Amino acid sequence: MTKQRIFISGVAGFLGSHLADAFLADGHEVVGNDSMIGGYYDNVPAGVDFHEVDCNEFDRLKEIMQGADIVYHCAATAYEGLSVFSPHLVTQNIVGASTAMVSAAIANKCRRFVMCSSMARYGTNPVPFTEDMTPKPQDPYGIGKYAAEQILQNLAETHGMEWVVAVPHNIIGPRQKYDDPYRNVASIFINLMLQGRQPYIYGDGNQMRCFSFVSDDIAPLKKMAFEQSAVGQVINIGPDDEFVTINELAVIIARLLNFDLESKYTGGRPQEVMLANCSADKARRLLGFEAKVKLEQGLLEMIDYIRTRGPRPFTYHLDLEILNEKTPETWAKHLFLSQERTEAAKFLKAA
Ligand SMILES: NC(=O)c1ccc[n+]([C@@H]2O[C@H](COP(=O)([O-])OP(=O)(O)OC[C@H]3O[C@@H](n4cnc5c(N)ncnc54)[C@H](O)[C@@H]3O)[C@@H](O)[C@H]2O)c1
Repeated sequence: MTKQRIFISGVAGFLGSHLADAFLADGHEVVGNDSMIGGYYDNVPAGVDFHEVDCNEFDRLKEIMQGADIVYHCAATAYEGLSVFSPHLVTQNIVGASTAMVSAAIANKCRRFVMCSSMARYGTNPVPFTEDMTPKPQDPYGIGKYAAEQILQNLAETHGMEWVVAVPHNIIGPRQKYDDPYRNVASIFINLMLQGRQPYIYGDGNQMRCFSFVSDDIAPLKKMAFEQSAVGQVINIGPDDEFVTINELAVIIARLLNFDLESKYTGGRPQEVMLANCSADKARRLLGFEAKVKLEQGLLEMIDYIRTRGPRPFTYHLDLEILNEKTPETWAKHLFLSQERTEAAKFLKAA
């Protein structure tokens, strides 16, 4: 394959950085940006031409995207639960950022645009979610993702750019942000337990999820750049077996860490779905998707990553726009801050 110039937004994030590694290993040139609202600087692989640019800064974005053949749009404020309480913050980095990316790619005559959407697009549809279903998103994150997809399809077809929509779901692995109190349940559990602290579980913990290890998803995501059969398609990326409840996830992680588990239960989050899973048939058929890494093996790699990098205090780095009786107390009361920090905060307030 001839060397391609691949632009990846959100390249300091979890998926974007793994994709960059994979394309560099194949001998391609990788350029990328990130606003650093999420992600880590040390995620960005050596060899990436990295720009700390927000996708919403249109002129700069268009400039750094010059010469790209293929664009992967991985940048997003991927905060489904938080989008109900900070909808302005979340949607400006979904709808606004995606529109800027699509516009810059068309202006730069890029050949193909791969957009990362989310399973949240399916919302209240019956499971398993298949790509032919009419999306029924039920929170601003899902609504924003679906709007971004439609803007991509509309502009790409008008101006003649190939497009593909990837629908990843519940991907886990090293490089996922683990000090963020608003998302990434497996990373949060590991970070808390490595600090000797009990995990918090929303609702009764019987929500079921199907986690997927990142290495299984990179190969099909990469194929979206070159496969002709993927053009103009929406394709779910992730497995459709090995379901666990959030309670079971906590038990497995505690066992792997030899941790004495006594989970703390807190109120359910509004709009959280109990069971969400996608069919992987289309990804198997078009992209040869195969789930190889078992959940426990994936969790062990995450534990190793977080242990090596060091467990970290959580940072409430995003403001809650709506604070009311529905706001989860883990966010409203900053429950993920350690007891010492909470005591210190009280002292500071009193002083
Ligand atoms: N990981 C999953 O399980 C999963 C599931 C469904 C969908 N997705 C989607 O896949 C994509 C990648 O997800 P991820 O898990 O790597 O998330 P991530 O948070 O690790 O990475 C996203 C990156 O985008 C950056 N970003 C956010 N807004 C930006 C902006 N306006 N300009 C520039 N950079 C910005 C963040 O700083 C972050 O580094 C996202 O679109 C996400 O919605 C991921």
